Amino acid sequence: MSYLMPIYQPLAIEFQRGEGCYLWDIEDKCYFDAISGVGVTLLGHAHPVIHAEIVAQSQTFLHLSNLFKHGWNERLAEKLAEITGLTQAFFCNSGTEANEAAIKIARAYGHQRGIQRPKIIVMQNAFHGRTLGALSATAKPAYREAFGPLLDGFEFVPFHDLAAIEHYQHDPDVVAVLLEPIQGEAGVNIASPLYLRQLRKLCDQQQWLLILDEIQCGLGRTGTWFFYQQAGIRPDILTIAKGLANGVPIGACLTHEKLGHLLQSGLHGSTFGGNPLACRVAYTVLDLLDKQYLATIADKGYKLLDLLQSRLTGLQNIQSVRGAGLMIGIELIHPVANIPQLASEKFGVLLNVTQGKVIRLLPPLIMTDAQVEYLAQQIALLLKELSQNYVESQP
Ligand SMILES: Cc1ncc(COP(=O)(O)O)c(C=O)c1O
Repeated sequence: MSYLMPIYQPLAIEFQRGEGCYLWDIEDKCYFDAISGVGVTLLGHAHPVIHAEIVAQSQTFLHLSNLFKHGWNERLAEKLAEITGLTQAFFCNSGTEANEAAIKIARAYGHQRGIQRPKIIVMQNAFHGRTLGALSATAKPAYREAFGPLLDGFEFVPFHDLAAIEHYQHDPDVVAVLLEPIQGEAGVNIASPLYLRQLRKLCDQQQWLLILDEIQCGLGRTGTWFFYQQAGIRPDILTIAKGLANGVPIGACLTHEKLGHLLQSGLHGSTFGGNPLACRVAYTVLDLLDKQYLATIADKGYKLLDLLQSRLTGLQNIQSVRGAGLMIGIELIHPVANIPQLASEKFGVLLNVTQGKVIRLLPPLIMTDAQVEYLAQQIALLLKELSQNYVESQP
């Protein structure tokens, strides 16, 4: 019997240590980590600089509360402002909390404009988190059904369908559009730069806030700091979390000056949010990405996608292989059970499957070219086996 609530069903592997892109189980079997704790350990495991910063901070103080200054939250906010152009930050501890802050800002913006029941347009298949606000913006019935009543004020439209959003132009209660520019949990669905630019323009015309959730696809994953930058736009609110401190919990909601004042003293807060440990590690992650890794990610991503696309051509059970940078989805034509187990046991690769049939790869951003080739080779072997099983199962 386990003393944990049965919320998760982890694979039956127990790990003892990690280094870079690799993890070792308690029998010392080595695995290539191609999921990075679902897009979190951007710099891999046991990165020596991260290790040193964690030790150094623990030798001073780990926590002060937001009653006192420590400098690291200011430094991190300034660095994020340089990267995003969004000069007002609120730090929290997770992605879902970052989205809660974004929803509160959007609602406060509505109230400021005299809108009593503000609405936010959100996407079908979106995933924004599990707290009640973020869950209300999350489409999947299986995640929502047990917990009603959820919050009012969210209008769902199909992803990547501008006309469906334009339909709301005459609704005076709409205040914002919230989306992931790449839907991760929904199976790596990628918005085009054109769509993002058109959406930005529509939001400007309508005085709607454009809120982007780059919790999974941001922070260098797609080859630029943020995916929206590839479209040449900027959101009004950006939410980030996951890899920001390489595994030390942190989230952030970033916005510009015109909105930052909406969350005043007493209106929002977090005991742990913005603590010195998480902020110091996050600052270090951004610094390392900037100086050592960011410039190479796009090339590695192209190479991985290219190798996968060429090696998987002709396999009958593959619907599509798509990706941006080092965020890749391989969609099968039908769900297959136990792919993560087969991948780890037989091919030594840790990966994840979303929507039952999309193999999701979110490898560490520090991968070398040789590791890109190795991963492509192992994934090709895995998919050949899945394809063979599929062919043999056909009447
Ligand atoms: C796009 C996106 N938004 C929000 C979240 C929620 O983040 P967290 O699990 O840190 O609350 C996730 C988590 O997977 C995510 O992928």
